[in-house]
Amino acid sequence: MAATEKEFDLAIIGAGPGGYTAAIRAAQLGMKVACIEKEGQLGGTCLRVGCIPSKTLLEATAQFALARERFAPIGITCDKVQMDVAALLARKDHIVATLSHGVAGLFRKNGIERISATASFVSANELQLAAAGDRRTIRAARVLIATGSAPIELPGMPFDARRVISSDQAIALRAVPKRMAVIGAGAIGLELSSVWKRLGADVTVLEIYHTTLPGADEEMGRLMERTLKGQGLKFHFGVQATGLREEKGHLTVRFASRQTGLEKNESALTADVVLVAVGRRAYAQGLDLDKAGVATDERGRIVVNRAWQTSVPNIYAIGDVIAGPMLAHKAQEEGIAVAELMAGKAGHVNYDAIPLVVYTSPELAWVGKTEEQLKAAGVQYNVGKFRFAANARALCMDETQGMVKILADGHSDRILGVHILGPQASSLIAQAGMAMELGASSEDIARTCHAHPSLPEALREAALAVEGRAINA
Ligand code: NAI
Repeated sequence: MAATEKEFDLAIIGAGPGGYTAAIRAAQLGMKVACIEKEGQLGGTCLRVGCIPSKTLLEATAQFALARERFAPIGITCDKVQMDVAALLARKDHIVATLSHGVAGLFRKNGIERISATASFVSANELQLAAAGDRRTIRAARVLIATGSAPIELPGMPFDARRVISSDQAIALRAVPKRMAVIGAGAIGLELSSVWKRLGADVTVLEIYHTTLPGADEEMGRLMERTLKGQGLKFHFGVQATGLREEKGHLTVRFASRQTGLEKNESALTADVVLVAVGRRAYAQGLDLDKAGVATDERGRIVVNRAWQTSVPNIYAIGDVIAGPMLAHKAQEEGIAVAELMAGKAGHVNYDAIPLVVYTSPELAWVGKTEEQLKAAGVQYNVGKFRFAANARALCMDETQGMVKILADGHSDRILGVHILGPQASSLIAQAGMAMELGASSEDIARTCHAHPSLPEALREAALAVEGRAINA
């Protein structure tokens, strides 16, 4: 018989960016909080197998590529630049462990009870906790589901964690594969293709859409495509992966053009490792949502209202397990807002000002609407563009690829979208996000004094270009 113990104001299922941020904010606001996590390390997908390990590999391999290919023109010579993959993976593991311990420390500091177990609903106020054969029950006035997402498998290509892999394994390959096939040119496909290409793999990406990153502004997606092709990545666009065969020690991925009918016109690609990066699905497996009466939609996502309440008023959900972009910072914003609403404060998330970043080299970052979205909505807009090739600092840094593109309302000049492919785009986009959050116009950025020489000047020049008055173009 399971014992019923302890009463909490709030029990949070999942200690990813959404769950742990909500736990801290709720504790700051005086709630008695428990956070339940089934994995040994705190931090969720982002910290354990997603953003943090991939960014560690991306940073290190970008520096490797720099040293190998771009030091000589600036006058630095190195005899023999080599990458020790084992040392790289050890460093990644160390960074993940450091940050995960950091979350545990924040839990202690804020008096949050960390529970290592797998949670499932017994009722709307009761959770069963299973850990190493042990079962117990806790009660909570409110429950927050922050269980995240899991990689989507393709039919006929089940993950085997060895040769047909998801991002979980693609951040931990012990040796550089000779030939790598990547299915999907989304954020994961492009980032991890970049890592293994820089380390020497022959990488080919298969993508249904006609260029990279279907959700991005199309012009920027095409610029990204050109940039990555220049780095030696190979692409087949407008094709769908249809099957997989293993023979004589290698894998053959079959794919076909979407236009010409799938059976006809089939091609094949040989690879040693296949990374399937075709998206992620909401993960609510094993929660026994039906015992509490929590409703999901046709894609298995938990349905919530504007206050992140599920169909059961005392049960809330945030992050990848609900609708919206699957991004750590989106989950964190929701985590803070939902805790504040629970405490009677005015928690809010501005979904129009959530930045997206793809950490390729150079990075692509954007916030707000794409041109395609504005056209579809019939919005009149003006465009201002500025290339990094004309930015003095970018030239000094030898980082001249890419551009800034600002979309401003045709009547009010209010900024509707900012798109940056270029050096440090992940940092530059913060200024654009702030401008949008404050309801700025392109004129506001155009009239803001920017330090010279600096990369953000490219943003100012793009703002000037909205009215055709860029200075350095
Ligand atoms: P995604 O949805 O961004 O991209 C998947 C791609 O696969 C799409 O371009 C799609 O057209 C293509 N595709 C689907 N089925 C296919 C098939 N059978 N054959 C060929 N192509 C096919 O998903 P991804 O990259 O797996 O990322 C999952 C989630 O994680 C996304 O929501 C993404 O935003 C998030 N993420 C964000 C990162 C970031 O912010 N830097 C990094 C990594 C992931």
